[in-house]
Amino acid sequence: MASEDPFVICNELYKIFKVADIEVMALQGLDLSVREGEMVGVVGASGSGKTTLMNVLGGLTRPSAGQVIVDGQNLLKLSNRELTTYRQVDVGFVWQQGSRNLIPYLSALDNIKLPMTLAGQTGTQVDKRARELMDLVDLADRYGHKPIALSGGEQQRVAIAVALANEPKLLLADEPTGELDSLTSDQVYNLFQRLNRDLGLTICIVSHDPLIAQHVGRVVAIRDGKLASETVLRRRKRKARPHDDSGEGQEGWEEHFEELIVLDSAGRLQIPKAYREQLAIENRVQMEVTDRGLLIRPAQNLEETSSQSEIQIEHEVRAGDNGARGGLLSRLGLRKSAADDGRGRGRK
Ligand SMILES: Nc1ncnc2c1ncn2[C@@H]1O[C@H](COP(=O)(O)OP(=O)(O)O)[C@@H](O)[C@H]1O
Ligand SMILES: [Mg+2]
Repeated sequence: MASEDPFVICNELYKIFKVADIEVMALQGLDLSVREGEMVGVVGASGSGKTTLMNVLGGLTRPSAGQVIVDGQNLLKLSNRELTTYRQVDVGFVWQQGSRNLIPYLSALDNIKLPMTLAGQTGTQVDKRARELMDLVDLADRYGHKPIALSGGEQQRVAIAVALANEPKLLLADEPTGELDSLTSDQVYNLFQRLNRDLGLTICIVSHDPLIAQHVGRVVAIRDGKLASETVLRRRKRKARPHDDSGEGQEGWEEHFEELIVLDSAGRLQIPKAYREQLAIENRVQMEVTDRGLLIRPAQNLEETSSQSEIQIEHEVRAGDNGARGGLLSRLGLRKSAADDGRGRGRK
């Protein structure tokens, strides 16, 4: 079961890659927190920053700015040597390509032993643990097989065993099912679920698969290097309907997925492209507090009224307001007026 402590914390993460004179912002102020024992899916278009995030969490890349804490360790403050130990022991990786996970000329068992040997372990314990891990991923009959003699799904299960060799608390998988058919992918997801449940392992899985929400507790979507939305599975108690023999009216739990828009630490949110297109929203909106919540609608004829924006703001800021609307309007690019301190009120 997931506990409430954040196990992974990313605060305002930035990663800038510089190639020749061109800078690419792969992460643009990303905030994310993952609880211990949680299994999280990470989705997003190609180039949105998913792999960069995994590399930062895995200690393979240092972010340009921001904060990353995993299990109480601030990754930016670790020395190179400490970061190497972190990569070897505290975190496990599974990549999309089988060839990147496994060494082709070693048997499955030897592939699993390798990270333990590299971390300085010796003796019969290493062999024993490697066999246990092969059993754990249901490959007890494949100890001596080299990667080429294993199917794609079996290779990924060995890769998961390799990632677990040094008993990490965090498992990162970057599109682990990207080259597998849906049936084999399901087997790999089932294995992740079992490891999450039985070992309490915290797992982050990057996926292109829109159906990943069925396999994990929570899905976060990255857009342009920032967290944009989160999909969670909601359970609601269903009341029994009287005089219903179909079985559907019986008391039980109803499950449905709900997508929530994520606000960053400064309160910024992204409006999904589909909604922007549907409502012809460009780069200005009007926001209003209503009985049912916050109403966001396309700004009307803003160009025409720009010279009158001061009047519009004064109109919005009513007596007794604490300035929140003025602040909001100024964030939308409009100038705050003297109305904030009440002087301009009533002018038309
Ligand atoms: N090593 C690198 N050097 C330069 N640009 C990079 C590097 N790695 C990633 N990028 C760029 O950063 C952006 C995010 O990449 P990535 O994290 O791989 O996205 P995703 O995994 O979501 O497809 C892309 O525009 C990509 O071209
Ligand atoms: Mg990627």
